[in-house]
Amino acid sequence: MKIGITGAEGRIGGYLRAGLSVAHQINSFTLTGQQFDSTVVDISDADAMNGAFSGLDAVIHLAGDPSPAGSWESMLKNNIIGTFNVLEESRRAGVRKVVFASTNHTQHGETMGASPEILDMSKRVMLRLNDYFNPSSIYGASKATGEIYGRLFARHHGVQFVAMRIGAIGDEDSPLRSVGKPSEDYNRAMFLSRRDLVTAFKKALEVDRDFTLAYVISNNGRRIFDMRETNETLGFYPEDDAETFFEKP
Ligand SMILES: NC(=O)c1ccc[n+]([C@@H]2O[C@H](COP(=O)([O-])OP(=O)(O)OC[C@H]3O[C@@H](n4cnc5c(N)ncnc54)[C@H](O)[C@@H]3O)[C@@H](O)[C@H]2O)c1
Repeated sequence: MKIGITGAEGRIGGYLRAGLSVAHQINSFTLTGQQFDSTVVDISDADAMNGAFSGLDAVIHLAGDPSPAGSWESMLKNNIIGTFNVLEESRRAGVRKVVFASTNHTQHGETMGASPEILDMSKRVMLRLNDYFNPSSIYGASKATGEIYGRLFARHHGVQFVAMRIGAIGDEDSPLRSVGKPSEDYNRAMFLSRRDLVTAFKKALEVDRDFTLAYVISNNGRRIFDMRETNETLGFYPEDDAETFFEKP
């Protein structure tokens, strides 16, 4: 498949370029020039986006502001307007599918402690994909907005849409950076290994459904997301578990 990746220069973009390039032709889209081949385009600029996706089969849309503490101005520009422009250009170009980097923060307001990366352990819930949005932040709300536009384009404009509610994936392939910190419980619940990330996105490229919601976390013993629907609809069965890192001597 010929796949476009927006935000290809970012953290997840790097992991996916490496993990998907054996089986697919990758066209990278970046905000600034890179050491690797890329098309430089600001996704919030509708005119600049016009024509960008011609000839692509699918788009993995990662570009945006990933900060739960980000400002409204940044969320509006990079996440809401940017995602709308990605969908609109996908429709125009006849791209069959958009795989969207959504977030746990669309629902984590339900379980949030003092801030978006803290888990209130007294809330013993197991959230499901169709539980209503409960964003933890302007950021979470911006991603929920992206999912809603995705549903619109899937239902009415022929662009398949997969909303990947990603957990937490950092520069190290481990949840241990948060040990002893207020964010430890959150990271034990939300950890996503690189291997599980790549598997989930491979599955998303394969699935043939108009609109799909999915949790993209590892098989964490302390998860707060019910993975059964994701297992079934996406065929994604994560293999890693944050708890195994904590068990090591
Ligand atoms: N890392 C995580 O744990 C995590 C969790 C849930 C969701 N996500 C989502 O996954 C995506 C990638 O996250 P990441 O951790 O790789 O972040 P990142 O900041 O490393 O990558 C995002 C990239 O998007 C690009 N970008 C931002 N605004 C843009 C614009 N207007 N036009 C073009 N490019 C733009 C940036 O240059 C950056 O390289 C984000 O959308 C983020 O919200 C990440």
